[in-house]
Amino acid sequence: MPHSQHSSYSSGKSEIPTAAFSRRAEAAGGPPIANVLMAEALAHPEVISLAAGFVEHDSLPVEEVAAAVQSMLSRRDVALSSLQYGSTIGFPPLRQAIVDRLAAAEGRSPSELAASMERVVITAGSNQLLYLILDTLLDPGDIVLCGSPTYFVFLGIVQNLRGCAVGIEIDAEGMIPEALEERLAWLARRGELDRVKAIYIASYCDNPTGITLAEPRRPKLVDIAKRWSRGNLIRIVEDAAYRDLQCGDVRPYSLRSYDDGGCVALLGTFSKSFSPGIRVGWGLLPSDLLLPVLALKGNLDFGSPQFNQMLVYTALENGALDSHAEGLRRRYHEKIQVTAAALEESLRPIIPIQYVQPAGGLYVWVHLPPDFDTGIDGDFFRACVREGVLYLPGESCFPNEENGVPRNCIRISYSMPSPERLRQGIAALGRAARRTRSGMPGSSTKR
Ligand SMILES: Cc1ncc(COP(=O)(O)O)c(C=O)c1O
Repeated sequence: MPHSQHSSYSSGKSEIPTAAFSRRAEAAGGPPIANVLMAEALAHPEVISLAAGFVEHDSLPVEEVAAAVQSMLSRRDVALSSLQYGSTIGFPPLRQAIVDRLAAAEGRSPSELAASMERVVITAGSNQLLYLILDTLLDPGDIVLCGSPTYFVFLGIVQNLRGCAVGIEIDAEGMIPEALEERLAWLARRGELDRVKAIYIASYCDNPTGITLAEPRRPKLVDIAKRWSRGNLIRIVEDAAYRDLQCGDVRPYSLRSYDDGGCVALLGTFSKSFSPGIRVGWGLLPSDLLLPVLALKGNLDFGSPQFNQMLVYTALENGALDSHAEGLRRRYHEKIQVTAAALEESLRPIIPIQYVQPAGGLYVWVHLPPDFDTGIDGDFFRACVREGVLYLPGESCFPNEENGVPRNCIRISYSMPSPERLRQGIAALGRAARRTRSGMPGSSTKR
């Protein structure tokens, strides 16, 4: 041990060495507020949680998973390889199945899409891949453009990597191409274009807004990313986590389908359509991005759990996954209708609200009046806790803005509660809004 490391012991004084953590560890910050709210929901089942972004609990595919495990373990060769390490990039048959499914969804052949299993990597959930891609692309101070608001875990990753998330205006159709272009031009005028490494877009039933990016905007956004790739390539990181939960007949093609394969990294997951407990995600990556991502992944885990990958593959092959997802779309569709009706009946008569009814996914994003504070330390949140309901305060979903972030939005997650509890939860939001508006004393009682 070098002398200096002994010094606090040898001096004879009872000095306690100060722990030194990396800058990145310090930048990671505390647990996001949504995780705190999830823990709160689990600890207090009597509270109606419209905050936790869990998939519906009671419809998790217990029987389908039991059958898939049974089928895997009943063949000794399959069983043995499922219990062994796999490769860093992932289980080949699953990667091929992902390419085939993607091609079917895009209505084109894999070669027309420039998609092949060699470019597909499997990760333990798509969030891991999001981290790996951003870690590959960002140096401290680099910029990722994203919708404002956006997926709060993405914001946490960028902060962790000491990058900078810059918000782009969205409307009812998702990210506004003109706003993206304006922001890029502004950054170019400031000599900062070289810092822009990526544009992050959750393209189907976004978290937190529930909005699906309109089809005509997709080729425009890809075109903008390419045109502004001057000093360095600007990638689009397309997060399609909720694609399989998109209800109805309108199923836009991915941004990736408008690319030749060099710009867009497309991320998907089986967490939402099947089971987050199994946690299998994937990405179809530009080939030059794949190698550095795999190098990082090699250091991280040198391969995601083989058992889980083979389980998902089995459920894909025997059709269980698709029929389960079909059932989920029906259930969520019904819950969206219940949520919208309850918002009209119980919240709108009390306070003006605006929201876009989603076509699927797990969330509705509600705007309240600009002066109405939905923050976690505000009167409305406290009144909601008194009424026995939790929501996700919208403030946690915005990238930093010079003039502060809006504090008048809430994200409602309709997936977990039964339709009846959903109605009760939204009625409780209404009572809390009335209490807050009227400045009733109970609204500011701390828990
Ligand atoms: C937009 C978005 N992307 C990615 C994920 C990560 O999902 P997983 O890591 O389970 O695949 C989530 C999970 O909530 C999400 O909302």
